Amino acid sequence: MTETVLTHPDRMVSVREVFGIDTDLKVPAFAERDDHVPDVDTAYRFNPDVTLAILAGFSRNRRVMVQGLHGTGKSTHIEQVAARLNWPCVRVNLDGHISRLDLVGKDAIVVRDGLQVTEFQEGIVPWALQRPVALIFDEYDAGRPDVMFVIQRILERDGKFTLLDQNRVIHPHPWFRLFATSNTVGLGNLSGLYHGTQVLNHAQMDRWNIVATLNYLPREEEVAIVLARVPGKNYDKGRQLIASMVAVAELTRKGFAAGDLSTLMSPRTVITWAENCEIFRNPALAFRLSFLNKCDEVERPIVAEYYQRCFGEELDESWMRTSEAQ
Ligand SMILES: Nc1ncnc2c1ncn2[C@@H]1O[C@H](COP(=O)(O)OP(=O)(O)OP(=O)(O)O)[C@@H](O)[C@H]1O
Ligand SMILES: [Mg+2]
Repeated sequence: MTETVLTHPDRMVSVREVFGIDTDLKVPAFAERDDHVPDVDTAYRFNPDVTLAILAGFSRNRRVMVQGLHGTGKSTHIEQVAARLNWPCVRVNLDGHISRLDLVGKDAIVVRDGLQVTEFQEGIVPWALQRPVALIFDEYDAGRPDVMFVIQRILERDGKFTLLDQNRVIHPHPWFRLFATSNTVGLGNLSGLYHGTQVLNHAQMDRWNIVATLNYLPREEEVAIVLARVPGKNYDKGRQLIASMVAVAELTRKGFAAGDLSTLMSPRTVITWAENCEIFRNPALAFRLSFLNKCDEVERPIVAEYYQRCFGEELDESWMRTSEAQ
């Protein structure tokens, strides 16, 4: 991996100017970008509360977890804040395949001067710890318990990290930062939506200094996010269409909360639906392909009714069944 250009932030930037939030706060940032700084997504819309929480993580060395339903923009939010601060950033997906060795490091055979030798190769945790890097543990609640205990050690601010095999203690770089995203709050899959998540150890949850929540946003804000992603719809009729789509999504979320549906439409799905509308030029067909086909067959009539309520037109009956040749 390439080295970071700077070892510490060398300027302060105004939160008002960079993130458009009404505050006089200034936060440290880097002047130069290296390969690990995520690309700026100019269409990204920052949620003020979550942004301030993430900024506290960067400027005050707080351990920040962003929690919320799927597809609400958690992972991208942290990356986009880092992108604006030119802060190098590494995202690790804590799915079931990540092992302790991936995080800590392992002995590997390398060829040196024509000879095969065994050499310790640092995992991502010791690598990041020694650099001004923001390490993001994505899908934190999906991590296996043995993996989570590796992380526990670095959750404390001065958390030193011991490489047992190496007999070496690593002190965290003063500008190393740690973030996580998760769908649950560590209490397991209570809603039934997040199969594969784990109940987290509470001694570990306790070590996160800030837990910010990013759930669904007010309708106008969600419409603005979808329009930012699909600017081709930014004209009168297009905006109305997106508003109706967001209205359908809201009904699925209410239906889910009331127990009528076992699934719900995330902002990510609304964006996909809007993109598919551009491809198929038919909102109903795009709806079927982006969301309806993911729903349980018995729940499709309910979802179709939501569509009818928001769009004033019926969905094709044959779409309610998967068994039929379509
Ligand atoms: N505020 C926003 N502005 C612009 N785009 C957004 C915003 N929020 C979400 N998106 C878009 O929605 C999609 C989903 O975002 P992201 O992957 O960050 O969600 P997530 O909350 O991490 O989801 P999951 O829980 O499934 O991991 C991305 O394509 C992202 O660009
Ligand atoms: Mg994510």
